Amino acid sequence: MASKLWEKSVTVNHDVETYTVGLDREMDMYLARYDVLGSLAHIAMLESIGLLTADELRVLTDELRSIYGVIESGDFKIEDDVEDVHSQVELMLTRKLGDIGKKIHSGRSRNDQVLVDLKLFIRSKIEDVIDAMTGLFSALLEQSNRYKDVLMPGYTHLQVAMPSSFGLWFGAYAESLVDDLTVLKAAYSVVNRNPLGSAAGYGSSFPLDRAMTTRLLGFDSMDYNVVYAQMGRGKVERIVAQALASVAATVAKLAFDACMFNSQNFGFIKLPDQYTTGSSIMPHKKNPDVFELTRAKCNKIQALPYEITLITNNLPSGYFRDLQMVKESFLPAFDSLTDILAMVTRMVSELTVNTDILSDSRYSLMFSVEEVNRLTLEGMPFRDAYKKVGLDIEKGDFKPDCNLAHTHEGSIGNLCNDKIAGLYDEILGSFDFEKFHTAFANLLGRK
Ligand code: ARG
Repeated sequence: MASKLWEKSVTVNHDVETYTVGLDREMDMYLARYDVLGSLAHIAMLESIGLLTADELRVLTDELRSIYGVIESGDFKIEDDVEDVHSQVELMLTRKLGDIGKKIHSGRSRNDQVLVDLKLFIRSKIEDVIDAMTGLFSALLEQSNRYKDVLMPGYTHLQVAMPSSFGLWFGAYAESLVDDLTVLKAAYSVVNRNPLGSAAGYGSSFPLDRAMTTRLLGFDSMDYNVVYAQMGRGKVERIVAQALASVAATVAKLAFDACMFNSQNFGFIKLPDQYTTGSSIMPHKKNPDVFELTRAKCNKIQALPYEITLITNNLPSGYFRDLQMVKESFLPAFDSLTDILAMVTRMVSELTVNTDILSDSRYSLMFSVEEVNRLTLEGMPFRDAYKKVGLDIEKGDFKPDCNLAHTHEGSIGNLCNDKIAGLYDEILGSFDFEKFHTAFANLLGRK
């Protein structure tokens, strides 16, 4: 039986172990490869300050790289009597290398180890989310351009309001993703600072070279103050969750629109048949379950910042085991959002739109403001024109003129989709993912 890293003369009660480990063995599987990368940087630094010999560094590096390979192949396991990924990796090293394996934990604690694992994990997962998001962004702009001339009613209070278009509708969600990307960039900047070396939260009397591990792990900078580095646990997750929630809110709103516009009572869009589901009793049904589940999944992601806030609220400074619980909902959220984005991209690309919505007379009043504006341009004061058109409508004398002339930026006739794409590309280009890819390749000897 593998004892705990911290076990001395007393063996811990089995029920207490079950209670405290909880889902950690499962959750730490998300972190495994990053735990190894963090250790690769840590041991290179330990050698540079004389705490490992060059030979010890070589064997430890080889062994950690081979553990990384096991993780990549899917064969890595956290054994039943091992507490967490940090203990498992150290156990594998000591089984193989004996005393040399026992040296790697000098100058660190599992507290800064899990902090650095989380930051490395989040950085990579933000890249995956952004890849998926960029796919959706392109699909939305493509559809906006394709259907830029197809009109639809715009609503306020769910009452027919003014003319809108599919160009505007699709493009609106693309531009929403621009702002979400800005929020993700802010979160990424918070993540991209190195907490390693803060140890249990108060540093170490070893002369750790934190600038070296910062460089080796491809971080932009470090969390300098060791107490603050530890205070980042929970805070970083909350900030990142807020950014994920921002993307999820955009997608949830799109999903609701899509369900509504696909309903027979609107009939504005049609989802591809193969993406709808049937009913066990009503033979005619083609339900938009994909968008309904998208909405619910997105709402779960939007609950995440609140859940993290409640778990971590009112904790004083310093490490607490409470923080472990954040992993359970936070770590799986990235793959969930990436899946959602991929599915919604397919739906958006393949849905078709009704190009003849306005032939239905129930929408004719949406041209009322066009008529008011026409009279105003002819010289009638706006308020008088408004009143005249209102009275005409009441008397049943209103004749809509469906010719539109919306020319200002962001309107039906001037979508500015190239500007929206420009904004997105500019923010996207400010993420330097290559920097950490190169750092990881170097640590793994794959350059
Ligand atoms: N599983 C722990 C967590 O996620 C790892 C750190 C353990 N540290 C401690 N002092 N018990 O927080």
